[in-house]
Amino acid sequence: MNSTEPGARLGPVLCVVGARPNFMKMAPILRALAAHQPAIPMLLVHTGQHYDKDMSDRLFEDLRLPRPDINLEVGSASHAVQTAEVMRRFEPLIDTHQPSCVVVVGDVNSTLACTLVAVKKGVPVAHVEAGLRSYDRAMPEEINRILTDQVADRLYTTERSAQDNLAREGISAERVCFAGNVMIDSVVFGRSHARNPAQTLKACGVAPSVLDHPRGYGVVTLHRPSNVDHPETLRALLQVLAEVASRLPLVFALHPRTRGNIEKFDGASLIDPARMVLLPPQGYLEMLGLMAGATVVLTDSGGLQEETTALGVPCLTLRENTERPITVSQGTNILVGRDRKAILQGVDDILGGQGKRGRVPELWDGHAAERIAADLWQWLTARAAQTPRA
Ligand code: UD1
Repeated sequence: MNSTEPGARLGPVLCVVGARPNFMKMAPILRALAAHQPAIPMLLVHTGQHYDKDMSDRLFEDLRLPRPDINLEVGSASHAVQTAEVMRRFEPLIDTHQPSCVVVVGDVNSTLACTLVAVKKGVPVAHVEAGLRSYDRAMPEEINRILTDQVADRLYTTERSAQDNLAREGISAERVCFAGNVMIDSVVFGRSHARNPAQTLKACGVAPSVLDHPRGYGVVTLHRPSNVDHPETLRALLQVLAEVASRLPLVFALHPRTRGNIEKFDGASLIDPARMVLLPPQGYLEMLGLMAGATVVLTDSGGLQEETTALGVPCLTLRENTERPITVSQGTNILVGRDRKAILQGVDDILGGQGKRGRVPELWDGHAAERIAADLWQWLTARAAQTPRA
């Protein structure tokens, strides 16, 4: 690049991932930054918040994410210790690499930790998936979202309601860019390679005949502390799921937290393995295949609410609220909370052909990351032109 061009002065963009739901958001962004003309220099930083092969490496392979340039290996700890440890280990990277910008995605502890470090060192932050609000401050992710958006410089939103949320918090519309949903870029990218559900079960040593039920099968994921950390709550949910499983077989992909708590709270006795199959955390392409073939998905995950909307698969969300309201107003999602009646009614409606059809929301078109890369380039070069590096 000619040194008189504005981009010539740009340091690398540090792209941060930490936990499973970050990987499918960052993969298309990295591809778009690399494909942008002129290419935008970047480094991939993995904080190591998620570190198991099933929670991390497998997803990197499925999503064709490059190996991280830097792994901070923070691992699991309390929220305070984990957040602090990411901050402590991320700070020297700013000094070493002099980035032009830090890109963070989603709402995990690593998102907030790296944002705080960067802004305090005068490095601008771009937050992808900004402005989502559940209005439930008991969720650790809600705190991460609010604080990240307050101090980040460039905010990329996935749905129009996000901009209203940001405006209500006093954030100027000039900082916000409605770019669409990068999570759906990954669905579009991965869909044609999605793994066959029968193969997925076989690979886990489970007879795939469970999928041959005339009503099909349901997919379950649960990992929110509010659903799985208390014995009575988790046991009650397992009891309702057993009732659902008497209507159609269920495939339950277990987060490590959930597996541990089922063991701890003696929940295994509530599960009939012939009707409810327990699997370890799945790869991205396995999960996509399982969801795409499902009659219904029951979940408390934010990502699955969006992916089922994009796939047109009915979703029952076992939460009282959602930070992704467009999945309810336009998509296939229904909030059923932990209410036994509502869950069973939702399942019966779907089995009776009354499932929500929904449509794919605006700009969930597989090109969100390209829009982000184009905007980021413009924004960074404009900034660089105004504030020459020392
Ligand atoms: C984190 C995110 C949540 C996201 C979820 C997806 C925050 C506050 N939460 O929650 O938004 O939906 O990831 O999974 O950042 N563990 C392992 N192996 C791993 C990672 C975790 O066994 O690779 C176990 C550990 O026992 C750990 C527990 O899972 O204590 C929870 O992990 P943690 O990263 O603290 O939070 P998640 O519940 O995964």
